[in-house]
Amino acid sequence: MPLKVAFHTLGCKVNYYESEALKGEFRRAGFEVVDFEEPADVYVINTCTVTHLAERKSRQIIRRAKRRNPSALVAVTGCYAQVSPEDISSLGQVDLVTGTAGRLAIPEMVRKKLAGEDVLTGIDAYGKEAAFEELPWVGEGERTRAFLKIQDGCRQFCTYCIIPRARGPLRSLPLQKALEYLQEISRSGYKEVVLTGIHLGLYGIDLQPPLDLGSFLERAAAVEGIERLRLSSIEPWDFGDKLIEVIKENKKICRHLHIPLQSGDDRILKEMGRLYDTSFYRGLLKRLRDALPDLAVSTDIMVGFPGESEEQFRRGIDFVRECAFSRLHVFKYSPRSGTKAAAMAGQVRPEIKEARSREMISLGKELAGNYQEKFIGRRLEVLFEKVLPAENSGGKVAAEGLLEGLTSNYLRVRAPGLGNLRGQIREVLIKKNAGDYLTGVRLA
Ligand code: 5AD
Repeated sequence: MPLKVAFHTLGCKVNYYESEALKGEFRRAGFEVVDFEEPADVYVINTCTVTHLAERKSRQIIRRAKRRNPSALVAVTGCYAQVSPEDISSLGQVDLVTGTAGRLAIPEMVRKKLAGEDVLTGIDAYGKEAAFEELPWVGEGERTRAFLKIQDGCRQFCTYCIIPRARGPLRSLPLQKALEYLQEISRSGYKEVVLTGIHLGLYGIDLQPPLDLGSFLERAAAVEGIERLRLSSIEPWDFGDKLIEVIKENKKICRHLHIPLQSGDDRILKEMGRLYDTSFYRGLLKRLRDALPDLAVSTDIMVGFPGESEEQFRRGIDFVRECAFSRLHVFKYSPRSGTKAAAMAGQVRPEIKEARSREMISLGKELAGNYQEKFIGRRLEVLFEKVLPAENSGGKVAAEGLLEGLTSNYLRVRAPGLGNLRGQIREVLIKKNAGDYLTGVRLA
């Protein structure tokens, strides 16, 4: 019987990618990967430290793993472990703590621990010289979208953000390697690749010779068989004319961009250490929407940054509405120890953050609905990802079943069809807005 390992991942797409890669390493080492809800011999928790809430969730999951099987080995990795290893160790339930480096060694460390051998662990703070740690890409079985991390690290030091400490300096996967991975992903039958990174817009800046994201995307779009390239978060100041031009010229690059705004008030943006003001952001949206009609733009918004007054929050609400985002990710500001903002005066009371967050989330839903509405009666290409279980299919379409997938501009669409269309891109005529998704009929 192979030993069983189960994973739980918190946080961002980069973490998600790293967990998938690590699962592959465990399989190679002879483990069987099982669902986190199942009893396992080893639990790996890949943690997040972006807010205190993410940390609290990480701790809850660690405790849950230990409860599920008290004799299991619990290995904790990721950003929270990198930044606060002593928090994790003090839980008293954890056998192995590693940070965001040296992940390929985890299966071997686990094997040694299970054999009763001593394992030396230690988490080093990042120096300037850290290299890009390649975690081999692995297929994800059932999925139709593949994730690939091409960049790690950040040197922006926005005043609220702990991530530069958790992730270290800027570093990129070399171009040739990245293209080889894309070819492998394509050979495995995936039609869509999500390119991820911590500061993705600066992909290539550290390579020899240096490269920019736009040039990389041109090369990536030429990889045969890959029909969609999706970009994770790109900072507003990273959109040069070249990048916009490349996106415009390459239909394979998805018509959805996630551009963190953080605040809709110029003074707060300045105090956050962001490199733009609202008029720059407005101008960017205009440049993008002129070049890319129907573009979906989503964003991250933080409420309750130190000193945020009611008036500044209102300005934020107005600006977010004006920007007509397709989706909002709302964060309540959370002081991260060691960051500049944590020491700022005017920390906002929790109940005010809560109320602002609720209002912003509800605006986000309204804007998402408005964006979806625009596509009723239009034809959109959908990459079908899953076949829904019969009870969701509704009587009328039972004979055919119901497929669900995503459009290039990240709209969720359901349409009648058969399971053999999974992983295929088909044109759908959009009929109705069903709230969280659109419904339509296949044209092809
Ligand atoms: N508190 C709240 N949200 C934060 N984020 C980053 N740091 C903090 C913090 N200290 C949010 C930002 C970022 C997203 C990934 O997490 O909105 O874009």
